[in-house]
Amino acid sequence: MITPALMASLHHLLFFIIIASLVAELILLARPIDAALAKRLARIDMHYGISAMAVLAVGFMRVFMYEKGEAFYFGNAFFHLKIGIFAVVGIASIYPTVLLMRWYRAFRSGQTPDTRRAPLLRKLVIVELVGVGLMLVCAALMARGVGMFR
Ligand code: HEM
Repeated sequence: MITPALMASLHHLLFFIIIASLVAELILLARPIDAALAKRLARIDMHYGISAMAVLAVGFMRVFMYEKGEAFYFGNAFFHLKIGIFAVVGIASIYPTVLLMRWYRAFRSGQTPDTRRAPLLRKLVIVELVGVGLMLVCAALMARGVGMFR
């Protein structure tokens, strides 16, 4: 019985890191971006990316191996909504990742990049945070069998 509990704990820890990373990006992107801040943002974004990949892997392991079985989740509307929102959050995270890496590399090679798109990145981070919030609601409903359609 320890493995399902470990997987559930890991699942919660990973989306905790995701939420903490997004909140940190939201706060730091409001400041003037210099070389040190660009490096910090790139590192936070890397942790976010790794945690998102890991939460996906752990999530599917829970679907197929450690929880109620795939028939339950594939027959639940909130599971599909949760995964759909996860995909939208993933797409919204691409442009910030590209720009944060570009800024970090520019500063590292001694250039001063144009960081005027920081307010736009903040808006995308807010979209991602709202998405993760909705996933928390979907998860609670899904886990209790609300939204079964077969
Ligand atoms: C940022 C992404 C995610 C967040 C915030 C999240 C959130 C949660 C939460 C809060 C729970 C506990 C629900 C409860 O017991 O009340 C949960 C359970 C679960 N999640 Fe996720 N999750 C995420 C990604 C995923 C992904 C990508 C998958 C599948 C591919 C997944 C599959 C599951 C499964 C199978 C459970 C167990 C539900 C049950 O107890 O029957 N999650 N998730």
